[in-house]
Amino acid sequence: MDRPIGILDSGVGGLTVVKEVLRQLPNERIVYIGDSARCPYGSRPREEIVRFTMEMVRFLLKFDPKALVIACNTATAVALDAVRAAVPVPVIGVIDPGARAAIRETAGSRIGVIGTVQTIESGAYAAAIGRTRPDLTVVGIATPELVPLIELGWPKEAARPVLEASLAPVRAAAVDTLVLGCTHYPLIADWIQDVLGDGVKLISSATETAAELAAVLTEAGLLRRAPEVPVEERLLLFTTGDVPGFQAIAERWLGRAVAIRSAVLNPE
Ligand code: SIN
Repeated sequence: MDRPIGILDSGVGGLTVVKEVLRQLPNERIVYIGDSARCPYGSRPREEIVRFTMEMVRFLLKFDPKALVIACNTATAVALDAVRAAVPVPVIGVIDPGARAAIRETAGSRIGVIGTVQTIESGAYAAAIGRTRPDLTVVGIATPELVPLIELGWPKEAARPVLEASLAPVRAAAVDTLVLGCTHYPLIADWIQDVLGDGVKLISSATETAAELAAVLTEAGLLRRAPEVPVEERLLLFTTGDVPGFQAIAERWLGRAVAIRSAVLNPE
């Protein structure tokens, strides 16, 4: 029960899931790895995404986690089955939880999904939504330009023209609900909402993913029963990339000072 939860992402985006896990599971210890040095994953070949994801999994296994969360849509779309087959602990991805949240929130019949090229080409969201609601139309739009500007911490004014261009097809698709199908995107959800207006409901999978993790741990009798533990004692954050850059985004997003450690991932 005292073992940590391992969370992995291609970069800073998975911190949106970390924030929710900290909130919903206030006793749990978390070890996070973000592969910012090789981010973005979303336009890479599938074989490479599986290989990089498995390197992060092996890194996290050294901490003897009781569950793993793939807090990256691209890695979930491409590598979830491979990770599940390779590890002896529950593995939670972000796509099924995001699809569930979209189904719950939509008031119409058209759901949009924005994500990386690999996530959109995989059709994973359309498949997950279609399993429960085959009557809904799912429109997938690849917006790969957004991840680099988030990783690099672009200011809003500089990002605005890129956002306008990337989101023009979303406007044209006339959806009432939009899944932020990349864990980086909630970091700029306000900017996306500004461009699309209030008529489009934005869905982040983070809340639902943390809820699924809580349910899985409860079911397995693995919830940590210690009294509420201060965040600084239960959060270990690693990046393969630039530590100050990662730290600036992490502190802004998590709303607290955090220590960031440097990690090196090894091929098998
Ligand atoms: C990426 O690495 O390209 C984005 C992460 C994601 O798909 O959530």
